[in-house]
Amino acid sequence: MFSLRPVKGENFIDREKLVGDIMYDLKNSFTGYALYGRRRIGKTSIFKEIQRRLEKEEDTVIVYFSVWDLMNDKLSNFIREFTVAVLDAYKQHLTLKYKARNLLKASFSLLKEILRELNISLKIKDNVEILLGFDELKANYDKLVEDCFNLPEELAKETNTKCVLLIDEFPALMNLKDGKKVGESFIKKIRTIHEDQEHVVLCISGSIRHTMKIVTINSASAFYGQFIVKEVGPLEKRYIRDLLIKNLLNISEDAIDEVYEFSGGIPFYVQFLGKILEKEDRITLDVVKEAEEEFIEEEGDILFKENFDNLSSKEREVLVAIAEGLQTPSKIAKEIKTIPNAVSVYLGYLEERGYITKKEKGIHVIEDAVFEKWLKRKINL
Ligand SMILES: Nc1ncnc2c1ncn2[C@@H]1O[C@H](COP(=O)(O)OP(=O)(O)OP(=O)(O)O)[C@@H](O)[C@H]1O
Ligand SMILES: [Mg+2]
Repeated sequence: MFSLRPVKGENFIDREKLVGDIMYDLKNSFTGYALYGRRRIGKTSIFKEIQRRLEKEEDTVIVYFSVWDLMNDKLSNFIREFTVAVLDAYKQHLTLKYKARNLLKASFSLLKEILRELNISLKIKDNVEILLGFDELKANYDKLVEDCFNLPEELAKETNTKCVLLIDEFPALMNLKDGKKVGESFIKKIRTIHEDQEHVVLCISGSIRHTMKIVTINSASAFYGQFIVKEVGPLEKRYIRDLLIKNLLNISEDAIDEVYEFSGGIPFYVQFLGKILEKEDRITLDVVKEAEEEFIEEEGDILFKENFDNLSSKEREVLVAIAEGLQTPSKIAKEIKTIPNAVSVYLGYLEERGYITKKEKGIHVIEDAVFEKWLKRKINL
């Protein structure tokens, strides 16, 4: 079956080397990883697959937490959700019978009662009680943040386990708000807390090069040198072929080539085309081309429009110029009637946000081939 959701287990293809390396290090050391990769390339799937494989390890507890899954950007909400995720991961060790989320709805006295029955020290129980039940208006957020990031460490210590903490879309933590944005200093705070931990391995992911730089890639960043940084790239053609052949009975080789070319090896596009194609009996090159048209027409706006509209008008003009085949700052400048220096600034911004890459010196191309096709289509409408 094709899937638009993160995959693991038998549906997870390729990435053997990367996942193998990560597994080895997580089992044998406290070295964490930072996975960087553009949208829809398969970062969450890698985390889910690692979680699946590590679950077989005794004495290892995995906490998966996605910052993008938060309902809102309030710091208070994050603290509670994070606490819930950690408690759920430790459920068995704690003899917690309910989903930890339910504790959020429990009255204060019920919460106390449930916590009393858990198999942990009084100190941690008190902490959890505060983390789940604090009063938003009177809260000391500095202390709460510290306590919530120390919860996995304390639980790990007490249960003699190693805690592997996977935080998906980690740089988005900077957008949390406690009145104002918590920003980079929040990341520094986590770094300081994590530094003293002996039972927690932290792995993070991020989609936007710019924010990953702020967090860990730049030499001035809080987590510089703290992770093994790996870029998650497109899937190789033979794996795309495997995925298609496994799920489609009758597909020609040139049709497979076309899916690969169109997708640029980005698994999401392959899965989506697969979903359209699985309704067909015989899949030829023409059938694939039709499916691609259908995909861009029906999904393109949903996937790309919002982000594109959020760019400034000049940035949009630059992208359109590149889509029309103008690749150097001077040509683009002429087209959009501004000076090359200004264009270079826009190009830098677009590059940091993953829209474009420099192919060679001064030559810019749009990174995502499907986005480019959508853009071209918009221009011609
Ligand atoms: N290893 C894989 N094998 C097969 N399909 C995959 C693989 N990795 C990702 N996919 C598919 O690609 C799509 C995107 O996967 P995933 O959500 O893991 O990516 P992501 O990088 O976390 O995306 P996002 O930027 O939206 O968070 C999904 O449809 C998923 O099924
Ligand atoms: Mg993801």
